[in-house]
Amino acid sequence: MDIEKSRRDAVMAIEFNRAQKKNALTWEMYALLTAALREAEDDPAVRVILFHGKPEVFTAGNDIEDFLKRPPLGEDSPVFRFLRAASQAAKPMVAAVTGPAVGLGTTLLLHCDLVYAGDNARFSMPFTSLGLVPEFASTYLLPFTAGYQRAAEMLLLGEPFGPEKAREAGFVTQVVPAAQALDTAWEAARKLAALPPKSLRLTKALLKSAHGAAIQAQLLAESDHFRTMLAEPAAREALSAFAEKRRPDFSKL
Ligand code: COA
Repeated sequence: MDIEKSRRDAVMAIEFNRAQKKNALTWEMYALLTAALREAEDDPAVRVILFHGKPEVFTAGNDIEDFLKRPPLGEDSPVFRFLRAASQAAKPMVAAVTGPAVGLGTTLLLHCDLVYAGDNARFSMPFTSLGLVPEFASTYLLPFTAGYQRAAEMLLLGEPFGPEKAREAGFVTQVVPAAQALDTAWEAARKLAALPPKSLRLTKALLKSAHGAAIQAQLLAESDHFRTMLAEPAAREALSAFAEKRRPDFSKL
């Protein structure tokens, strides 16, 4: 399976498992991710959710061929369902990030409660260079955690950056040697799972309560623009160029 889930010590681990394509996320994978989140949320035996990828890559973000062939259409699309489920998860979410975390690979972390990054992690949100706009309420959450100008640099220029910068920007809890990132995240997840679950859930709800409605509104606003932009020539050129392994040519746009 391209998404693997496993359970240990009241923690559900959700693994991106499509290494040959750098864990790029397809429609099927979003549907599996949403199903795994629902299962974790509904089952009282699960107290914490842990996302991780492979030692060499967290995820390369949305599958670019899917963007070309099966663009997300609306609120019922598998992508949007996942964005909504993850942004509204009541149980604590932990992430271990090693290697590249592109697009949604980075924006997902803004919804996680604890994030452990290996020193080989590389974050990027290259939405503008793809002719798109940011997603997952990152245009709301990143200025909030990182401050406006840092967020503007990350989202307007969209260039890759390392784990220390991500920590300074407020969405990485701790940077550790790459080989220890997953173990460190598991240790934190287990610690959370040993705490009284209702207390954890209420604390998370209180932490998020001032922003819940704004986050959902921003998800929708971004998605409207994203859908429109995906059909425009700049995105078609950028995405085709990636698929054809060439540089995009925006000179005629
Ligand atoms: N969608 C579809 N396929 C992808 C992909 C994506 N987002 N990211 C990587 N792949 C595929 C490549 O096409 C390649 O496939 P192939 O072996 O069949 O040719 C394979 O994964 C390996 O990718 P490659 O680019 O050779 O690996 P790398 O180690 O040099 O670079 C990344 C890794 C993640 C930095 C790079 O692949 C990348 O930038 N990917 C695109 C990320 C992106 O723009 N995502 C969309 C965000 S909205």
